[in-house]
Amino acid sequence: MVKSDLYIQKIEKYVAHNYHPLPIVISRAKGCFVWDVDGNKYLDMLASYSALNQGHCNRKVIKAAKKQLDKLTLTSRAFHNDLLGEFAEKLCKVSGFDMILPMNSGAEAVETALKLARKWGYDVKKVPLNTAEIIVCEGNFHGRTTTIVGFSSEKQYKQKFGPYAENAFKLIPYNNPQALENAITENTVAFLVEPIQGEGGIIIPDSGYLKAVYDICKKHNVLLLLDEIQTGFGRTGKLFAYQHEEGVNPDILIMGKALSAGIMPISAIAARKELMLLFIPGDHGSTFGGNPLACAVGLAALDVIVKEKLVQKSKTLGEYFLKKLRTLQSRHIKKIRGKGLFIGIEIKTNSGKARPFCERLMKEGLLCKETHDQVIRLAPPLIITKKELDWAFERIKKVLCE
Ligand SMILES: Cc1ncc(COP(=O)(O)O)c(C=O)c1O
Repeated sequence: MVKSDLYIQKIEKYVAHNYHPLPIVISRAKGCFVWDVDGNKYLDMLASYSALNQGHCNRKVIKAAKKQLDKLTLTSRAFHNDLLGEFAEKLCKVSGFDMILPMNSGAEAVETALKLARKWGYDVKKVPLNTAEIIVCEGNFHGRTTTIVGFSSEKQYKQKFGPYAENAFKLIPYNNPQALENAITENTVAFLVEPIQGEGGIIIPDSGYLKAVYDICKKHNVLLLLDEIQTGFGRTGKLFAYQHEEGVNPDILIMGKALSAGIMPISAIAARKELMLLFIPGDHGSTFGGNPLACAVGLAALDVIVKEKLVQKSKTLGEYFLKKLRTLQSRHIKKIRGKGLFIGIEIKTNSGKARPFCERLMKEGLLCKETHDQVIRLAPPLIITKKELDWAFERIKKVLCE
């Protein structure tokens, strides 16, 4: 028995079985690499679902966190702290918005966006109270709160956790602007969408889709809410994935994951001033949202993305890696999709599910994870080098082609 087995036994005994992780117990990490409790080294090609765009234990972010840990960690929003303004200013400048509202997890930021959209619906659009409708897409993933799973199209996420408010959310097919136009009513306040569906299987909509839905939202006075929790901060080769298309200006941008460089949960929504100021004291809050430690970490995490040109790296290396992956002659591959370093390899159903391939890749020293049944998701830290990608390619080739 290896050491990992003992750790796994304890985890299975004391922790809820709400995940199905690969059988590896990580105890140390640096950059793109992790080590398990038995001393084995792996290349991390998942980066904690894109939270680690800056790489594991990024020195600059850790340094900022350590400095702040000895100074001030939490004030709650009952009082101001000396870093909140600076963090908010930087995030506004980086994202191009007027104001932000900081939270912790991604799901909380989505909830925040939904609340703001509804408030706008009642206060500005004058939708009758408690009738606001929000349109969402099939295959969406926006988190796990009871409101959010209530509009999931994934049966397991939703089915046994109801009841849900009727008519609050309408599901339409993804990548179908006409379906959006058809679904809008006078009570529609918002359309919530991912520019690329990550959990859904790295589903990239047709080019022009986002611009089309943006135009439709404008035409019908509906807010466009973009969930860039997974696709943001360089993952797809642009700072935000919606920037792949010209002329798209979301009303609310939802961010999380890499905003913290994987050090702690940090999320936020960004919006124009008139919209954000609809929230008044008492409307919304969080004990930890905008805490000084998170602000210090967020400032450093944003700095690393900008100064280390991670967006450009993701674009160039993503194109290089995708091109290389597309040369693979494998009877198991149905399709390879990707933008930047956000890549999905879809496995043919007659080759079985994606998970056994991920397990074999793990044995080869490469960590990645299936999303849904058929897709292997590759999303390494954006600090990865060409040499490391070449190494990963050889492992993938071995597992998928031999
Ligand atoms: C697009 C998207 N939205 C929301 C979330 C939820 O974020 P969190 O797990 O931090 O609540 C995720 C997480 O994977 C995500 O990918």
